[in-house]
Amino acid sequence: MSDNGWPADRIDTEHAHSARIYDYILGGKDYYPADREAGDAMAREWPALPVHMRANRDWMNRAVRWLAEEAGIRQFLDIGTGIPTSPNLHEIAQSVAPDSRVVYVDNDPIVLTLSQGLLSSTPEGRTTYIEADFQHPEAVLGSEEFSRTLDLTKPVALTVIAIVHFVLDEDDAVGIVRRLLEPLPAGSHLAMTIGTAEFAPEEVGRVAREYAARDMPMRLRTIEEAHEFFEGLELAEPGIVQVHKWHPDGTGEQGIRDEDIAMYGAVARKP
Ligand SMILES: C[S@@+](CC[C@H](N)C(=O)[O-])C[C@H]1O[C@@H](n2cnc3c(N)ncnc32)[C@H](O)[C@@H]1O
Repeated sequence: MSDNGWPADRIDTEHAHSARIYDYILGGKDYYPADREAGDAMAREWPALPVHMRANRDWMNRAVRWLAEEAGIRQFLDIGTGIPTSPNLHEIAQSVAPDSRVVYVDNDPIVLTLSQGLLSSTPEGRTTYIEADFQHPEAVLGSEEFSRTLDLTKPVALTVIAIVHFVLDEDDAVGIVRRLLEPLPAGSHLAMTIGTAEFAPEEVGRVAREYAARDMPMRLRTIEEAHEFFEGLELAEPGIVQVHKWHPDGTGEQGIRDEDIAMYGAVARKP
């Protein structure tokens, strides 16, 4: 993967990275040998890892469609977007409403490099990409791309999908999500998936150790801790459940066992 034109000075190719491990496990092509080695080691510890990651991505697909179709949302702020993976969030939203607007945010230089794949908006809609760290919400909220793309007199869906398990307690993920929600008007929504070890504690614990050994310590949460993100919001049915149980549409959930899934998912409305 040395001749792919990526700016090697900014991308650490020697060490595995969460975005690229996810891409590898999902069957993508934007990873390095270190990511493949990490993904293989993790899948050895927990063979359900690909099922779990695919179920998270499928949840994103269903949740965005639900937000567009059922909640009428036309604007999205997506934090921790990841490497472009078809279908991307804007493709789902714009297939329901072509005028949908999406702001993508990630802090991994490889996502920036591949962000062209996130910018294929319909002519009626708009997408933009901001390279920023979740831990500095002001960098997102204060950016020109943010204010140019989203109209804060209308509802926005804040999507924070498969990222807060990389945010440790001292960095206060709950507080950061509140700060991102703060300027969004009533009727806005929060859609999140939140890593948990409650259904396969030993196996998921071993995977977390593999991440930690590669400098990506994890913070997995209980259902009570997951609820903290949604305090003061109105949870949509069925509340906070494992991702495969949230509005299943019969396309990918058959045969999934609870112990295969280490991710809660939920959508809630800001009153
Ligand atoms: C597992 S991927 C999830 C991608 C996508 N949201 C999904 O669920 O399909 C996690 C993403 O979060 C990004 N990420 C991790 N920590 C971050 C941070 N502090 N700020 C911004 N992005 C972050 C990673 O670069 C990666 O792209």
